[in-house]
Amino acid sequence: VSRILQRFAVQYEYPVYFTRQVFAGDNPTFAEALGASAGSPPRKFLAIVDDGVARAWPRLTADIEAYAASRRDRLELAGPPLVVPGGERCKNDASLVELVLRRLSELGIDRHSFAVLIGGGALLDAAGYAAATCHRGVRIVRVPTTVLAQDDSGVGVKNGINAFGKKNFLGTFAPPFAVINDASFLTTLETRDRVSGMAEAVKVALIRDAAFFTWIVEHAAALAAGEGEPLGELVRRSAELHLRHIATSGDPFELGSARPLDFGHWAAHKLETLSNNELRHGEAVAIGLALDSLYSASAGVCSSEVAERVVATLRALGFTLFHEALLREKAGRRAVLEGIDEFREHLGGELTVTLLADMGRGVEVHTLDEARILTCIEALRARA
Ligand SMILES: NC(=O)c1ccc[n+]([C@@H]2O[C@H](COP(=O)([O-])OP(=O)(O)OC[C@H]3O[C@@H](n4cnc5c(N)ncnc54)[C@H](O)[C@@H]3O)[C@@H](O)[C@H]2O)c1
Ligand SMILES: [Zn+2]
Repeated sequence: VSRILQRFAVQYEYPVYFTRQVFAGDNPTFAEALGASAGSPPRKFLAIVDDGVARAWPRLTADIEAYAASRRDRLELAGPPLVVPGGERCKNDASLVELVLRRLSELGIDRHSFAVLIGGGALLDAAGYAAATCHRGVRIVRVPTTVLAQDDSGVGVKNGINAFGKKNFLGTFAPPFAVINDASFLTTLETRDRVSGMAEAVKVALIRDAAFFTWIVEHAAALAAGEGEPLGELVRRSAELHLRHIATSGDPFELGSARPLDFGHWAAHKLETLSNNELRHGEAVAIGLALDSLYSASAGVCSSEVAERVVATLRALGFTLFHEALLREKAGRRAVLEGIDEFREHLGGELTVTLLADMGRGVEVHTLDEARILTCIEALRARA
């Protein structure tokens, strides 16, 4: 026997900008994010735009073209911005990935060119998957346009689409070249999309930062009303905590069996599918957080005061913490419980679920008691 041990490490680094009106002519952020500078060849990019964003911002594609035209020495449009369907349907339908890849091919996008993804978490996931597999990965700049995408998904390292009835069954780990969080996009969100994204901030506060959770409780009314300033702070603090986790957890590409930031998610992913995507991801996460908090109290992992505070805060933010999908039966078993098996399968290895130990602190367990879960579902129904 002989053996060669191959070993190398790759360092990743990317900036996350916070700005407003990113394509206003006098905002230098976008050019800077692409690393465009005088004297070096123009940065070539294709913008891929969520149709929900294009509808809410009718001048956006023209603004992108004008922005590039006014910096012709630094930026080069590979082609006109490509507007594609956004929302969860774009992750349920593989044709979007093909459409994006076909366009990247037609435009001769190479590994030094940029795919600039502008949209909600679903569009970023689906178009990001396409861009990450094109030439084994072209440069990706994300411009997240929802609360959820700005405070969680858009600043992270993952992409993916749904397949065979499973959330995120196909996907890759692909750190972006840069991320630009533009707060002005949040002003055109429907109420439910604005509220929905706050679930991920509550989640990360609960397991990582008790002071942030207290801040959310204190600002719940203003956040529920959509006031810009507290919403901006919520996005920034949540994004920071998610970024810190990726950088310092020791497992940015999730090689282990634990995924602490998926607190509340075993039920959430299943509920999205069971509700035929009637529930948005964040809405399903809120239900999952309430369920797993009640479960934590019931199992004696945290106090019932802590669990009640979670439920009250989610409600104050505008979440509905029950959905009929929780009651659906399949082959004599409550269908949502399949989410436990699928969660284990998605991560691999031993089932590892985060429960709530106290405000700001999670704890990992390796089994869930199904009868106890059903009791907690009843408790949610009784309050609905
Ligand atoms: N990759 C990750 O690490 C990660 C993490 C968390 C969630 N996610 C995924 O993110 C997705 C949810 O993302 P989401 O909550 O952003 O919802 P979404 O992408 O489904 O967007 C919701 C709706 O808002 C519209 N929209 C987007 N921006 C808008 C704007 N500025 N003004 C008006 N309308 C706008 C979209 O067209 C869509 O109809 C789920 O698929 C979830 O699995 C991924
Ligand atoms: Zn999530």
